[in-house]
Amino acid sequence: MRNLPDLLMRDAALAAATNGIVIVDATQPDLPIVYVNQGFERLAGYRADEVLGRNCRFLQGADTDPLAIVEMRTAVAEGRGAKVVLRNYRKDGSPFWNEVVLSPVTDGERIVNYIGVQLDVTERRQAEEQVRFLAYHDPLTGLANRARVEERLADAIRDAGRVGHQVALLYLHLDHFKDINDRFGHGAGDELLRQVTERLTGIVRPRDLLARQGGDEFLIALCDVPADAAAVAAEVAERVTETLRPAFLIAGEALELSASVGVSAYPDDAA
Ligand SMILES: Cc1cc2nc3c(=O)[nH]c(=O)nc-3n(C[C@H](O)[C@H](O)[C@H](O)COP(=O)(O)O)c2cc1C
Repeated sequence: MRNLPDLLMRDAALAAATNGIVIVDATQPDLPIVYVNQGFERLAGYRADEVLGRNCRFLQGADTDPLAIVEMRTAVAEGRGAKVVLRNYRKDGSPFWNEVVLSPVTDGERIVNYIGVQLDVTERRQAEEQVRFLAYHDPLTGLANRARVEERLADAIRDAGRVGHQVALLYLHLDHFKDINDRFGHGAGDELLRQVTERLTGIVRPRDLLARQGGDEFLIALCDVPADAAAVAAEVAERVTETLRPAFLIAGEALELSASVGVSAYPDDAA
Protein backbone atom coordinates (compact mmCIF):
# COMPACT_ATOMS: atom_id res chain seq x y z
CA MET A 1 0.00 0.00 0.00
CA ARG A 2 1.28 3.45 -0.88
CA ASN A 3 0.77 6.57 1.17
CA LEU A 4 -0.27 9.83 -0.48
CA PRO A 5 2.49 12.44 -0.63
CA ASP A 6 2.50 14.54 2.55
CA LEU A 7 1.12 17.69 0.96
CA LEU A 8 -1.80 15.92 -0.71
CA MET A 9 -2.58 14.16 2.53
CA ARG A 10 -2.62 17.49 4.42
CA ASP A 11 -4.89 19.00 1.77
CA ALA A 12 -7.26 16.09 2.25
CA ALA A 13 -7.17 16.59 6.02
CA LEU A 14 -7.98 20.32 5.67
CA ALA A 15 -10.87 19.50 3.35
CA ALA A 16 -12.20 16.82 5.67
CA ALA A 17 -12.10 19.01 8.81
CA THR A 18 -15.51 20.05 10.10
CA ASN A 19 -14.04 23.27 11.53
CA GLY A 20 -13.65 26.30 9.32
CA ILE A 21 -10.00 26.87 8.50
CA VAL A 22 -8.78 30.18 7.07
CA ILE A 23 -5.23 31.12 6.16
CA VAL A 24 -4.33 34.78 5.66
CA ASP A 25 -1.20 36.41 4.28
CA ALA A 26 0.43 38.31 7.15
CA THR A 27 2.99 39.94 4.85
CA GLN A 28 0.29 41.87 2.97
CA PRO A 29 -1.61 44.90 4.23
CA ASP A 30 -4.90 44.03 5.98
CA LEU A 31 -4.33 40.27 6.15
CA PRO A 32 -6.03 39.06 2.94
CA ILE A 33 -7.43 35.52 2.93
CA VAL A 34 -5.36 33.16 0.77
CA TYR A 35 -7.11 29.89 1.62
CA VAL A 36 -10.38 28.66 3.13
CA ASN A 37 -11.40 25.02 3.47
CA GLN A 38 -14.82 23.51 2.75
CA GLY A 39 -15.58 23.63 6.49
CA PHE A 40 -15.40 27.43 6.29
CA GLU A 41 -17.63 27.47 3.20
CA ARG A 42 -20.24 25.39 5.05
CA LEU A 43 -19.93 27.44 8.25
CA ALA A 44 -20.16 30.88 6.68
CA GLY A 45 -22.10 30.12 3.51
CA TYR A 46 -19.55 31.85 1.24
CA ARG A 47 -17.71 30.12 -1.61
CA ALA A 48 -13.92 30.33 -1.47
CA ASP A 49 -13.75 32.55 -4.58
CA GLU A 50 -16.05 35.10 -2.87
CA VAL A 51 -13.72 35.61 0.09
CA LEU A 52 -10.17 35.21 -1.22
CA GLY A 53 -8.29 38.51 -0.95
CA ARG A 54 -10.65 39.91 1.74
CA ASN A 55 -10.08 40.49 5.45
CA CYS A 56 -12.17 38.20 7.70
CA ARG A 57 -13.99 41.16 9.26
CA PHE A 58 -16.72 40.86 6.60
CA LEU A 59 -18.18 38.19 8.94
CA GLN A 60 -18.86 40.80 11.63
CA GLY A 61 -22.01 42.85 12.06
CA ALA A 62 -24.05 45.09 14.33
CA ASP A 63 -24.06 42.69 17.31
CA THR A 64 -20.41 41.69 17.20
CA ASP A 65 -18.72 42.43 20.53
CA PRO A 66 -16.18 45.24 19.94
CA LEU A 67 -13.98 43.85 22.75
CA ALA A 68 -13.57 40.54 20.91
CA ILE A 69 -12.53 42.48 17.79
CA VAL A 70 -10.00 44.49 19.83
CA GLU A 71 -8.62 41.26 21.29
CA MET A 72 -8.01 39.85 17.77
CA ARG A 73 -6.55 43.14 16.53
CA THR A 74 -4.20 43.34 19.54
CA ALA A 75 -3.15 39.70 19.22
CA VAL A 76 -2.24 40.22 15.56
CA ALA A 77 -0.39 43.46 16.35
CA GLU A 78 1.59 41.65 19.04
CA GLY A 79 2.22 38.59 16.89
CA ARG A 80 0.57 36.18 19.30
CA GLY A 81 -2.32 33.74 19.17
CA ALA A 82 -5.84 34.39 20.47
CA LYS A 83 -9.11 32.65 21.15
CA VAL A 84 -12.38 34.57 21.09
CA VAL A 85 -16.07 33.79 20.78
CA LEU A 86 -17.99 36.40 18.86
CA ARG A 87 -21.17 37.01 16.91
CA ASN A 88 -20.64 36.53 13.18
CA TYR A 89 -23.02 36.52 10.22
CA ARG A 90 -23.32 34.08 7.33
CA LYS A 91 -23.72 35.20 3.74
CA ASP A 92 -27.51 34.88 4.09
CA GLY A 93 -27.41 37.26 7.08
CA SER A 94 -28.13 34.63 9.73
CA PRO A 95 -26.10 35.12 12.93
CA PHE A 96 -24.00 32.46 14.66
CA TRP A 97 -21.58 32.33 17.60
CA ASN A 98 -18.12 31.76 16.19
CA GLU A 99 -15.27 30.46 18.32
CA VAL A 100 -12.18 31.68 16.51
CA VAL A 101 -8.67 30.49 17.34
CA LEU A 102 -5.88 32.51 15.73
CA SER A 103 -2.34 31.16 15.42
CA PRO A 104 0.66 32.91 13.85
CA VAL A 105 2.91 31.01 11.43
CA THR A 106 6.56 32.07 11.09
CA ASP A 107 9.16 31.30 8.44
CA GLY A 108 11.75 31.22 11.19
CA GLU A 109 12.24 34.99 11.18
CA ARG A 110 8.90 36.70 10.89
CA ILE A 111 5.23 35.97 10.84
CA VAL A 112 4.20 35.14 7.30
CA ASN A 113 0.70 33.79 7.82
CA TYR A 114 -2.05 33.57 10.36
CA ILE A 115 -4.27 30.53 10.58
CA GLY A 116 -7.80 30.90 11.90
CA VAL A 117 -9.82 27.89 13.03
CA GLN A 118 -13.54 28.53 13.39
CA LEU A 119 -16.21 26.56 15.19
CA ASP A 120 -19.94 27.28 15.28
CA VAL A 121 -20.71 27.21 19.03
CA THR A 122 -24.26 28.59 18.76
CA GLU A 123 -25.88 25.55 20.35
CA ARG A 124 -23.40 25.51 23.22
CA ARG A 125 -24.00 29.22 23.81
CA GLN A 126 -27.76 28.77 23.82
CA ALA A 127 -27.47 25.88 26.30
CA GLU A 128 -25.23 28.03 28.54
CA GLU A 129 -27.71 30.91 28.36
CA GLN A 130 -30.54 28.54 29.21
CA VAL A 131 -28.65 27.21 32.24
CA ARG A 132 -27.91 30.77 33.38
CA PHE A 133 -31.57 31.73 32.89
CA LEU A 134 -32.83 28.74 34.85
CA ALA A 135 -30.46 29.43 37.72
CA TYR A 136 -32.19 32.76 38.32
CA HIS A 137 -35.70 32.35 36.91
CA ASP A 138 -38.79 30.35 37.50
CA PRO A 139 -39.34 28.34 34.27
CA LEU A 140 -43.14 28.43 34.56
CA THR A 141 -43.62 32.20 34.72
CA GLY A 142 -40.20 33.47 33.59
CA LEU A 143 -40.07 35.58 36.78
CA ALA A 144 -37.02 35.95 38.98
CA ASN A 145 -36.64 33.06 41.44
CA ARG A 146 -35.55 33.00 45.07
CA ALA A 147 -31.84 32.96 44.23
CA ARG A 148 -32.23 36.05 42.05
CA VAL A 149 -34.26 37.80 44.74
CA GLU A 150 -31.52 37.27 47.30
CA GLU A 151 -28.95 38.84 45.01
CA ARG A 152 -31.09 41.70 43.74
CA LEU A 153 -32.47 42.56 47.17
CA ALA A 154 -29.06 42.81 48.75
CA ASP A 155 -28.01 45.18 45.92
CA ALA A 156 -31.25 47.20 46.06
CA ILE A 157 -31.04 47.68 49.84
CA ARG A 158 -27.41 48.75 49.59
CA ASP A 159 -28.08 51.16 46.68
CA ALA A 160 -31.12 52.66 48.38
CA GLY A 161 -29.24 53.01 51.67
CA ARG A 162 -26.47 54.98 49.97
CA VAL A 163 -28.85 57.77 48.97
CA GLY A 164 -31.07 57.54 52.06
CA HIS A 165 -33.87 55.80 50.12
CA GLN A 166 -35.88 52.74 51.12
CA VAL A 167 -36.99 49.41 49.70
CA ALA A 168 -40.51 48.12 50.24
CA LEU A 169 -41.39 44.44 50.08
CA LEU A 170 -44.76 42.85 49.41
CA TYR A 171 -45.22 39.14 50.03
CA LEU A 172 -48.19 37.73 48.15
CA HIS A 173 -49.83 34.44 48.81
CA LEU A 174 -52.72 33.33 46.57
CA ASP A 175 -55.63 32.22 48.69
CA HIS A 176 -57.00 28.70 48.14
CA PHE A 177 -54.67 28.02 45.24
CA LYS A 178 -54.42 24.39 46.28
CA ASP A 179 -58.18 23.97 45.82
CA ILE A 180 -57.85 25.15 42.20
CA ASN A 181 -55.08 22.66 41.58
CA ASP A 182 -57.14 19.90 43.18
CA ARG A 183 -60.32 20.77 41.30
CA PHE A 184 -58.98 21.58 37.83
CA GLY A 185 -55.59 19.87 37.76
CA HIS A 186 -52.03 21.20 37.72
CA GLY A 187 -52.27 22.40 34.11
CA ALA A 188 -55.01 24.82 35.14
CA GLY A 189 -53.03 25.84 38.24
CA ASP A 190 -50.03 26.60 36.04
CA GLU A 191 -52.17 28.64 33.66
CA LEU A 192 -53.54 30.62 36.60
CA LEU A 193 -50.02 31.38 37.83
CA ARG A 194 -49.10 32.64 34.37
CA GLN A 195 -52.16 34.88 34.21
CA VAL A 196 -51.46 36.21 37.72
CA THR A 197 -47.90 36.94 36.61
CA GLU A 198 -49.17 38.89 33.61
CA ARG A 199 -51.43 41.04 35.78
CA LEU A 200 -48.78 41.67 38.42
CA THR A 201 -46.26 42.58 35.72
CA GLY A 202 -48.70 45.28 34.66
CA ILE A 203 -48.57 47.05 38.03
CA VAL A 204 -44.85 47.12 38.78
CA ARG A 205 -42.33 49.54 37.35
CA PRO A 206 -39.43 48.14 35.30
CA ARG A 207 -36.97 48.92 38.11
CA ASP A 208 -38.98 46.98 40.68
CA LEU A 209 -38.54 43.28 41.21
CA LEU A 210 -41.37 40.82 40.73
CA ALA A 211 -40.49 37.27 41.68
CA ARG A 212 -42.10 33.90 42.23
CA GLN A 213 -40.87 32.56 45.53
CA GLY A 214 -42.27 29.10 44.84
CA GLY A 215 -45.73 27.51 44.83
CA ASP A 216 -48.35 30.24 45.08
CA GLU A 217 -46.04 32.83 46.64
CA PHE A 218 -44.90 35.96 44.86
CA LEU A 219 -42.75 38.83 45.99
CA ILE A 220 -42.67 42.42 44.82
CA ALA A 221 -39.71 44.58 45.82
CA LEU A 222 -40.22 48.29 45.26
CA CYS A 223 -36.66 49.45 44.85
CA ASP A 224 -35.46 52.94 45.53
CA VAL A 225 -38.47 54.49 47.31
CA PRO A 226 -37.51 58.05 48.39
CA ALA A 227 -39.55 57.99 51.63
CA ASP A 228 -42.47 56.40 53.43
CA ALA A 229 -41.83 52.92 52.01
CA ALA A 230 -44.48 51.37 54.26
CA ALA A 231 -47.17 53.71 52.91
CA VAL A 232 -46.05 53.15 49.30
CA ALA A 233 -46.15 49.39 49.89
CA ALA A 234 -49.67 49.64 51.26
CA GLU A 235 -50.73 51.53 48.11
CA VAL A 236 -49.20 48.87 45.87
CA ALA A 237 -50.86 46.13 47.98
CA GLU A 238 -54.15 47.85 47.16
CA ARG A 239 -53.26 47.78 43.45
CA VAL A 240 -52.43 44.06 43.74
CA THR A 241 -55.86 43.37 45.20
CA GLU A 242 -57.51 45.44 42.45
CA THR A 243 -55.64 43.79 39.60
CA LEU A 244 -56.49 40.30 40.86
CA ARG A 245 -60.16 41.15 41.42
CA PRO A 246 -61.58 40.48 37.91
CA ALA A 247 -62.26 36.76 37.39
CA PHE A 248 -59.63 34.60 35.68
CA LEU A 249 -60.74 32.47 32.75
CA ILE A 250 -59.27 29.02 33.43
CA ALA A 251 -60.32 25.81 31.69
CA GLY A 252 -63.43 27.58 30.39
CA GLU A 253 -64.49 28.71 33.86
CA ALA A 254 -64.40 32.14 35.43
CA LEU A 255 -62.48 31.84 38.71
CA GLU A 256 -62.34 34.40 41.46
CA LEU A 257 -59.02 34.73 43.21
CA SER A 258 -57.74 36.75 46.10
CA ALA A 259 -54.33 37.17 47.63
CA SER A 260 -53.05 37.77 51.13
CA VAL A 261 -50.41 40.48 51.09
CA GLY A 262 -47.84 41.21 53.79
CA VAL A 263 -45.60 44.26 53.59
CA SER A 264 -42.32 45.29 55.11
CA ALA A 265 -39.90 48.11 54.50
CA TYR A 266 -36.13 48.55 54.64
CA PRO A 267 -34.61 50.04 56.62
CA ASP A 268 -37.69 50.57 58.85
CA ASP A 269 -38.31 46.89 59.54
CA ALA A 270 -34.70 45.80 59.25
CA ALA A 271 -33.38 43.92 62.23
C1 LIG B 1 -6.56 34.07 10.40
C2 LIG B 1 -7.62 34.99 10.88
C3 LIG B 1 -8.92 34.54 10.95
C4 LIG B 1 -9.95 35.36 11.39
N1 LIG B 1 -11.23 34.90 11.45
C5 LIG B 1 -12.21 35.71 11.87
C6 LIG B 1 -13.54 35.24 11.95
O1 LIG B 1 -13.85 34.10 11.68
N2 LIG B 1 -14.49 36.10 12.37
C7 LIG B 1 -14.20 37.41 12.71
O2 LIG B 1 -15.11 38.13 13.08
N3 LIG B 1 -12.94 37.87 12.65
C8 LIG B 1 -11.95 37.06 12.24
N4 LIG B 1 -10.66 37.54 12.17
C9 LIG B 1 -10.38 38.89 12.67
C10 LIG B 1 -10.41 40.00 11.62
O3 LIG B 1 -9.82 39.61 10.43
C11 LIG B 1 -9.65 41.22 12.16
O4 LIG B 1 -8.36 40.82 12.52
C12 LIG B 1 -10.34 41.82 13.37
O5 LIG B 1 -11.59 42.33 12.93
C13 LIG B 1 -9.53 42.96 14.04
O6 LIG B 1 -9.09 43.87 13.12
P1 LIG B 1 -9.86 45.23 12.71
O7 LIG B 1 -10.11 45.96 13.98
O8 LIG B 1 -8.91 45.89 11.77
O9 LIG B 1 -11.13 44.81 12.02
C14 LIG B 1 -9.64 36.69 11.76
C15 LIG B 1 -8.32 37.15 11.70
C16 LIG B 1 -7.32 36.32 11.27
C17 LIG B 1 -5.92 36.82 11.24
